[in-house]
Amino acid sequence: MSSRWQGKCEACGAWNSIVEEAAAAPLPGGGSSTAARALGKGRIVVLEGLSGATDEAPRLVSGLGELDRVTGGGFVHGSVLLLGGEPGIGKSTLLLQASAALANAGHRVVYVSGEEAPAQVRMRAQRLGLHEAPVALAAETNVEDILATLKNGETPKLVIIDSIQTLWTGQVESAPGTVTQVRAAAQAMIRYAKTTGACVILVGHVTKDGQIAGPRVVEHMVDAVLSFEGDSGRDFRILRAQKNRFGPTDEIGVFAMTGDGLEEVTNPSALFLGDREPDAPGTAVLAGLEGSRPILVEIQALVVPTSLGTPRRAVVGWDGPRLAMVLAVLEARCGVRLGSHDVHLAVAGGMRVQEPAADLAVAAALVSSLMGTALPVDAVFFGEIGLTGAVRPVSHPGPRLREAARLGFTRAVLPAAAADAATDAGVSPIAVPALDALVARLAARADAQQGRIKGA
Ligand code: TYD
Ligand code: MG
Repeated sequence: MSSRWQGKCEACGAWNSIVEEAAAAPLPGGGSSTAARALGKGRIVVLEGLSGATDEAPRLVSGLGELDRVTGGGFVHGSVLLLGGEPGIGKSTLLLQASAALANAGHRVVYVSGEEAPAQVRMRAQRLGLHEAPVALAAETNVEDILATLKNGETPKLVIIDSIQTLWTGQVESAPGTVTQVRAAAQAMIRYAKTTGACVILVGHVTKDGQIAGPRVVEHMVDAVLSFEGDSGRDFRILRAQKNRFGPTDEIGVFAMTGDGLEEVTNPSALFLGDREPDAPGTAVLAGLEGSRPILVEIQALVVPTSLGTPRRAVVGWDGPRLAMVLAVLEARCGVRLGSHDVHLAVAGGMRVQEPAADLAVAAALVSSLMGTALPVDAVFFGEIGLTGAVRPVSHPGPRLREAARLGFTRAVLPAAAADAATDAGVSPIAVPALDALVARLAARADAQQGRIKGA
């Protein structure tokens, strides 16, 4: 907080990060006791016990399985959800498909577009073959007008606001898209949802450098924040829950953007392993887990002698500090010297992996690239690596191994504790108690392959 204009924030040192904000004004749909409040007197609210009746959070199931999975089983009545993502990623497409599905199921759905004219939304609907769905459409950006429209007639079950950055309320003076406007507009929509029981979805554009004001300031006000991600160069999109008061936050939904809209990908492992080159050194298949669902992804490493004073460490789709740790353990505990090598690491297909269970696959890919020896085609890897070099157990080995078996993998390099689960899944376990055991196996494999080449 600052009471005057300032170019530099004195707390964090950042320049131009301070924005002017008008003093809060009462918002539409506000409390009934405005007169009492003006006198500084509060209204007495009824206090309740914990044991009272609860409405078992009823949900609106869209029927798009990948979307329902991420919301935790459907949209919750009276809740507000923020869908963030870069422009052009497919947010409007996803919500139009969900709206149409719910409208076709007999729910009243209102889609308010502040970015596109009704004709444009209709054109998209036609392209998706959804123009017959009874979705109520409006192109409007004024909060008061939107609320008046929504309150006129039957309360909708679902309201889409596309996007929050285009909304403005007459109650504050800033321009649309500013922090003050976005916050005030979001507050008004949240109050609407809580008082009527309608579920409201706010679309928020996010740019890579976070330049557009908006979604960030709304995140803590809403019940759930979903982000829609993907490479614009690729077809598939990942929906992730970053916050969810009514469900898990580690589930992901996978979609492919096609000429006919977003298609659900129910078998993501097959997609992520689609263009694998099995004989290439430096690739390892991770038997990963995203939420409750096992997903197999390929980890790719390239280790090359550096031409720089300080070798390069580049990571796409994984955690930089985590890579530094795996490299340090390889050096300190296994004698693998990487100080004069550049290291590039990528999760294939644009996927983002967060779990420590990927450590072992990363280490295997790195050593495989350094030695120039491909790993066995039919093996998957998982295990967390500790600073001592020990390979530690990870959660839910069973589903990981069953998914590997289903996709034709016959061997799994894993922590000793998971060996039985592998046998149960019909996969041969190769238990490595510590990382040096894996390095020794790979060195032996490299020697055998080179011996074969020399002998031939
Ligand atoms: P859109 O939903 O408008 O993105 P956002 O609302 O996040 O800005 O999607 C835009 C992109 O999706 C656009 O580049 C065209 C593409 N697209 C398809 O490939 N197939 C389709 O069926 C549709 C409707 C869009
Ligand atoms: Mg859009």
